[in-house]
Amino acid sequence: MEKRELLYEGKAKKIFKTDNQDILWVYYKDDATAFNNQKRGQIKNKGVINNKITNYFMNFLEKNKVSTHFIKEISDRETFVKRLEIIPLEVIVRNVVAGSFSKRYGICEGEMLKKSTIEFSYKNDELGDPFISEYSAVALELASEKEIEVVKKLSFEINDLLKGHLKIFNIKLVDFKLEFGKVKNGEIILGDEVSPDTCRFWDIKTHEKLDKDRFRNDLGNVEDAYNEILNRLKI
Ligand code: TMP
Repeated sequence: MEKRELLYEGKAKKIFKTDNQDILWVYYKDDATAFNNQKRGQIKNKGVINNKITNYFMNFLEKNKVSTHFIKEISDRETFVKRLEIIPLEVIVRNVVAGSFSKRYGICEGEMLKKSTIEFSYKNDELGDPFISEYSAVALELASEKEIEVVKKLSFEINDLLKGHLKIFNIKLVDFKLEFGKVKNGEIILGDEVSPDTCRFWDIKTHEKLDKDRFRNDLGNVEDAYNEILNRLKI
């Protein structure tokens, strides 16, 4: 496969075209941002770690009959993925109160939710990815009602699979963000990444944070936390 021009550069990844129009070349950077780019930095080796962790989870999900964009890891920081028509929604699944949910509803971090919940953000950097209801997403034609139903079903399935799997490694899956897209035949599959950048991982007993919150909130030992996830998963 040949690498062609840069298609898109995001905050954490670069996406290149290839000589096959259905396949993209992803490069994971060490750059870290938070609060819609207001806080910037680098996390040493993050690109390598997130590439490996994402591919580990994508493989795990595929084995459990969830379709993803993953094709093949090319190098420490690079992976081939299927080209998708991205649905411009960030899908957030929450099991435990944390982050913006804790602030918005005035509930302490760590409280277990009676039932897992899903929220949507409109994927738009200029607007700072604002919260959006399912109805507004349909009204703005970001996705159809049917597509949203599929996305919700897949997201809860992925939550059950990941939550159960992570428990084996004494990791609590607090919340996470997913992105979906469509392949040529219209099938909706999982895209983007599943990593400590996009998930909240806590030690099951101590609730020590092992994710990007260490960077967002200047908690220190950021690299150690990312490495800890890699090591616990034995990747
Ligand atoms: P939040 O509590 O800040 O809304 O974040 C919820 C989850 O979504 C958390 O696991 C981090 C993840 N997330 C992203 O992956 N990208 C983002 O831009 C934001 C704001 C959150």
